[in-house]
Amino acid sequence: MPDESSERESGDDTESALEARLAAGETYEPPASFVEQANVSDPGIYDDFEENWPDCWEQAADLVSWFDEYDTVLEDEDAPFYRWFTGGTLNASYNCLDRHVEDGAKNRAAIKWEGELGETRTYTYGDLLNEVEAFAAALQELGVEEDDVVTLYMPMIPELPIAMLACARIGAPHSVVFAGFSADALATRMNAAESEYLVTCDGYYRRGDPLNHKEKADKGLRGVDHDVETVVVDRLGDELEHFLGANAHDYDELVSDHAGASVEPVERDAEDMLFLMYTSGTTGQPKGVKHTTGGYLSYAAWTSHAVLDVKPEDTYWCAADIGWITGHSYIVYGPLTLGTTTMMYEGTPDYPDKDRLWELIETNTVDIFYTAPTAIRAFMKWGTGYPDAHDLSSLRLLGTVGEPINPRAWTWYYEHIGGESCPVVDTWWQTETGGMMITTLPGIGEMKPGSAGPPLPGIDAKIVDAAGEEVGAGNAGYLTVQNPWPGMLRTLYNNDDRFLNEYWQEYSDPDADEWVYFPEDGAKIDEDGSITVLGRVDDVINVSGHRLGTMEIESAIVGVEGVAEAAVVGGDHEVKGQAVYAYVILEDGQEATDGMHDRIVEGVEDSIGPIARPEEVLFTPELPKTRSGKIMRRLLEDIASGEELGDTSTLRNPEIVEEIADQVGEN
Ligand code: WT7
Repeated sequence: MPDESSERESGDDTESALEARLAAGETYEPPASFVEQANVSDPGIYDDFEENWPDCWEQAADLVSWFDEYDTVLEDEDAPFYRWFTGGTLNASYNCLDRHVEDGAKNRAAIKWEGELGETRTYTYGDLLNEVEAFAAALQELGVEEDDVVTLYMPMIPELPIAMLACARIGAPHSVVFAGFSADALATRMNAAESEYLVTCDGYYRRGDPLNHKEKADKGLRGVDHDVETVVVDRLGDELEHFLGANAHDYDELVSDHAGASVEPVERDAEDMLFLMYTSGTTGQPKGVKHTTGGYLSYAAWTSHAVLDVKPEDTYWCAADIGWITGHSYIVYGPLTLGTTTMMYEGTPDYPDKDRLWELIETNTVDIFYTAPTAIRAFMKWGTGYPDAHDLSSLRLLGTVGEPINPRAWTWYYEHIGGESCPVVDTWWQTETGGMMITTLPGIGEMKPGSAGPPLPGIDAKIVDAAGEEVGAGNAGYLTVQNPWPGMLRTLYNNDDRFLNEYWQEYSDPDADEWVYFPEDGAKIDEDGSITVLGRVDDVINVSGHRLGTMEIESAIVGVEGVAEAAVVGGDHEVKGQAVYAYVILEDGQEATDGMHDRIVEGVEDSIGPIARPEEVLFTPELPKTRSGKIMRRLLEDIASGEELGDTSTLRNPEIVEEIADQVGEN
């Protein structure tokens, strides 16, 4: 007689069984079929890189074509202002386009784009080169010269990578501002970069509706202190009328006027700036992370080759937005340098239905898929019916990036998307690092759900305590990187001091000329050398993989009339990872009305964008403060995450904690 309990045991893991399995740190071997064909499969690479450091990085530089060979791999005289591949010259657009066309890949698809409504566009390497040259000629005609910063404020449409490559071709660094950022955020970034050129578009589709983007761009331009030449891409055609004012030009007209133009790729020095990317930090002012041409491009190509296993014949899809570093390195520069087919999708994963991504993987026979844990958690919530309805057998490798992935999400991804036959690489890195730093090599390493893995070959990542001493296995500490790498940021734009303060202060010993990079993450290391990244230890929070500065949000809230003080923290969120919690004190005589709530939310959306919208706004007469007057942020985080509240006895006003916690309970 079949007994019920044994039947249950042989079925799916119960939650507790799964948890036990994961807690035991079960590891997964990469499938033999993957290892056989992997770009990198010799475990000797780790020792090789260690023994031959820094010359090992020639392997990365060899993946790009140089006009003039470099003389020196690494110059460290002015550390931490390191210089890589000095004496070398190259052009990123040449590397992403011309050389593939010259090698006979003119008709290979470079970009396969799908719009939200289902329209598709394919650019072969030949097409892409032609359009990039035409647009580069147009930019030159508008006055763009080498080293002028061009701001790109566009959603996921092909003209965004085209504009990036056109800028790279003429040696004009681009500064891409995520399309979801607000008008104010655009203005702040254009002012900080003294950028006199803007490429934007009329609008785009979101969940089937046309969204007016140009309105936002125009509003942003009113906040820019200097004159700007603007180019507008017509994405929506008749769906949305738009007018070009003074100093504004139509993209299609410019490109057709310059059709057939030939624009020589300028020889850029290895250390010349390729682009700027603004990211959030501890203060209210975003940081302009500067990446260079030689080191960054080599590193993006190397990690795409070694970790994402990209091959020219692949169809590769990173479902990030080009407005973030992930899209720069792993939609545009890495994959195109390697000559593969890179996919772009304009819309959201649940439109028109929750199987859109799986449908795209099936119809495009995608080989490699790279996304964020927040997306995976949403897929899990939607259920296995959506992926199960599609043939995902073309997949060979899966990746995740942007935030810690919980083991349950990892195993779900491995089983239901990868069919237990694709390695999953959990890649830790940052805007500042330019490319991946900590992850397994999929053709070599055992995978451990929830843990990113060992540092990549040549990367000296160590977990240290507050005094900078290495912590033992099993202990939590601070993540540090103790040697430089080619993809590293070179400085913060126009702000060397802040660069030194933000990244090189805590653990370096300048007198001994010892430089340790501090990424502001906490982490833990296991016996086997595998690193689990625990999250930020500064005032930066990670909402759906988007990096937000709590100070930026606080200053937006304090800017709302009637608000006296605000404290913003991240609280745990099932899908987003973290969500924004705002604790707000109003000025005397102000009422905590729905109207006030809405004005605060609007204030945040106006100054940063909807991604920073508070999950909850909690009005409170006071904030929990220590006797010395410091806000106890940890307590606010515990309240937001619904956790047991720690010791409140050191507070000046312990009674306020219960009061706020009760309010959260009610909402
Ligand atoms: C922060 C960097 C990396 C490109 C996208 C985000 C967190 C990133 C992981 C990971 C745990 C991760 C860190 C990091 N993070 N990847 N695999 N596991 N945490 O770039 O906006 O510069 O954010 O994202 O906290 O510091 P970013």
